[in-house]
Amino acid sequence: MYNFEFKNPVKILFGKGKISKLSKELPKHKKILLTYGGGSIFKNGIYDQVKEATKGFDMIEFRGIEANPEYETVMKAVEIVKNEKIDFLLSVGGGSVLDATKFIAAAALYEDDDPWDFLAKRYEVIVEKALPIGAVLTLPATGSEMNGNSVITRVETQEKLAFGSPYLMPQFSILDPEVIYSLPERQISNGIVDAFIHVIEQYLTYPVNSPLQDRMAESVLLTLIEEGPKVLADKTNYDAAANFMWSATMALNGIISVGLPQDWGTHQIGHELTAYHGIDHAQTIAIVLPGMMNIRRKEKEAKILQYAERVWNIKEGPVDERIDKAIEKTVEFFESVGVKTKLPDYGVSIETVDKITERFEKRGKKIGEKADVGPDQIKLILEDRL
Ligand code: NZQ
Ligand code: ZN
Repeated sequence: MYNFEFKNPVKILFGKGKISKLSKELPKHKKILLTYGGGSIFKNGIYDQVKEATKGFDMIEFRGIEANPEYETVMKAVEIVKNEKIDFLLSVGGGSVLDATKFIAAAALYEDDDPWDFLAKRYEVIVEKALPIGAVLTLPATGSEMNGNSVITRVETQEKLAFGSPYLMPQFSILDPEVIYSLPERQISNGIVDAFIHVIEQYLTYPVNSPLQDRMAESVLLTLIEEGPKVLADKTNYDAAANFMWSATMALNGIISVGLPQDWGTHQIGHELTAYHGIDHAQTIAIVLPGMMNIRRKEKEAKILQYAERVWNIKEGPVDERIDKAIEKTVEFFESVGVKTKLPDYGVSIETVDKITERFEKRGKKIGEKADVGPDQIKLILEDRL
């Protein structure tokens, strides 16, 4: 295991009715901006719960953050934050609203240049301060509620990029599993797959003698395999919803990956598919992952075999056969929860493969746990999914 430092200061308020605790968590005598998406919170009663719990607070609203939040939209909110002298941001929504809120929190205090640099020059322009954030999560999937990451899209250049900072971690996140009751099936499917692949990105690399982290990662995978279908069968099954929600948070709050190498190549390639075609985030990574496992089977061999054995009970046969079976099982699982895994399922053809390959070539940065996956391999990974 590598050396590590770990701190996760996010306070989690988990369970039925926890939205009513908002007033205890919000700062008194501060001006708050409530951020939310396209309006699902009006239909499912979450907006009413939030308003009830925040009576007496000085709060204004910013509505209309879209899925795959756009730079163009969040910059409008940054203006409001500056003009209205906002001190605290309250995000009520899924990963998109929360990621947008994180960007707003950092951009509002950044005077040097264009805050897009946080994304475009991720390793040169670092977030050094941000307004405090609180979150009411309405969709388990991204883990954004307990991490410092954010993903923003710039429409004019068709770019979707990530950035992160400890300053972007919410001060608190409220996780009431009952928010799942109103989710469309597609979002539940997406959430299961996104959380699953978050674990895979931190687990399916190479061994560094980390039995505890490995077993924690495998527990999250096995719990998603068990509980995900139960939520899809009946989204008002509170226990299944609660287990799914907590699994999604645990998948990306940093705990399972301390001291480990991490990949994130599947995500980086997936983001390009959203940028060019607007495909849902989880769908893009469900497409890419099987290709990543297939093309990089040599580099990832030891961990794929461990995954095959401990998650799918595949113990016998020649190495390549076991790897093939592990990929097959992964694909079967994604498809069984309603997420298709091939490019043509989404109307994507070879031209996009070429465009994405060129983009990685231009950027000149290799990806993967050893930063050795270049455009040629990325092309093979995508071609594998045609
Ligand atoms: O906008 P509204 O009307 O609220 O509708 C949303 C949206 O259309 C709806 N929804 C959310 N909660 C609901 C609900 N509908 C009914 N009932 C509810 N309780 O669901 C739709 C999708 O929401 P979105 O927030 O986009 O989904 P998700 O949470 O999956 O977030 C996806 C975004 O997060 C990024 C993705 O790239 C994508 O932009 N990611 C963020 C990460 C992070 N910060 O750590 C990591 C992930 O890998 C991911 O990249
Ligand atoms: Zn993801």
